[in-house]
Amino acid sequence: MFQVCRIPLKRTRLFCINASGRDNKPPTHYICTMNKEIVVSGIRSTGYLHLGNYFGAIQNYVKMQEDYNCYFFVADYHSLTTHPDPKDLKANVFRVVAENIASGLDPEKVALYAQSDIPEIPELYLMLNMMAYKGELEKVPTFKDKVRTQPDNVNAGLLTYPVLMAADILIQRAVKVPVGKDQEQHLEMARNFAERFNKRYGDFFPEPQVFRFNKDTVKIMSLDGVGKMSKSENVNATIFLSDDDDTIRKKIMKAKTDAGPTEPNAVMPDFIQNLFLLLQLTSKPETYETFRNNYNDCNIRYGDLKKQLAEDMAAFIRPIRERAKELQNDETLIRKILKEGAEKARTGASATIAGARKLIGIDYYTPNP
Ligand code: TYM
Repeated sequence: MFQVCRIPLKRTRLFCINASGRDNKPPTHYICTMNKEIVVSGIRSTGYLHLGNYFGAIQNYVKMQEDYNCYFFVADYHSLTTHPDPKDLKANVFRVVAENIASGLDPEKVALYAQSDIPEIPELYLMLNMMAYKGELEKVPTFKDKVRTQPDNVNAGLLTYPVLMAADILIQRAVKVPVGKDQEQHLEMARNFAERFNKRYGDFFPEPQVFRFNKDTVKIMSLDGVGKMSKSENVNATIFLSDDDDTIRKKIMKAKTDAGPTEPNAVMPDFIQNLFLLLQLTSKPETYETFRNNYNDCNIRYGDLKKQLAEDMAAFIRPIRERAKELQNDETLIRKILKEGAEKARTGASATIAGARKLIGIDYYTPNP
């Protein structure tokens, strides 16, 4: 079985993968000749999806699905670091799938799957763990945060979280990874692990890059101005894709503001900048411009801005919420999507593992030439 991949390593080259590893000879059979670049990204199934997930990740997935070879997954193994109740796991996974589709992801165009349906991922994770060092893992800010916030549960899965993430990406030999700003450091580590593997065993993995449509990756802050919007913290200052209109209105009206600027064109505090960012992402351009000019002229009335933002946000989320609810109730459909997604994802994953095993020397059944 052959797969052809265009992978930008130090120099772009075309090579083939067969069941027993890499082979630079021209292939005789192609199962897929993808000119499209490979994209991977995932979302943990730890709670309800929010605006940060939507604007930081899902919106980009939807834009990328036409032009790239996309693999998007629910990171259910990653969610196990916090020991979720087994009774909730399936519903959490199904909801993430439903919310992705309701946001515009088309499972016919992308592989949409659960991480735990791809056994090649933990195998690659094991291999990459040999390329990862305790010191560097302990320095990762998200790990240090967890040590601070959950000192009773600093498990090895948390420490090696970036390694599992690297395995998720490298298993498809992806080159682009659409993620929010909070994941940039993890991507840097994935590149380091890929580079170390390549140095030790020969060029095999491309070094995946963060993908963004605009110059900067997006970070949506919590509405109380404390940190980023997140699935588990500041739930009253986080807008979820499942929030009803009234909840959205209430949360936005309570968003943190200040007394307003005292001089023209003043620099915005980050919590005000966040409200303007949300306005820019969900309201009409002329609405955004009007409030922006009011701010610059020191005429801003935050009450009016919030009312407008609340209405525009409610109108934006309503169709996603309603569609997700319908989909979530259709378990047969979600199961079918996950199954088909896993089949698509395992094709590349098994070729990668076969190639990696061979390079490492785990190749006991090919007779010596
Ligand atoms: P997770 O589940 O925390 O978030 C999923 C995606 O949403 C983005 N995001 C945000 N973007 C902007 N502002 C925010 N407030 C905000 N909150 C979340 C995240 O950047 C992410 O893109 N480790 C990952 C899941 C993962 C993964 C991967 C991602 C596992 N393996 C491989 C990419 C590739 C995570 O916890 O995302």
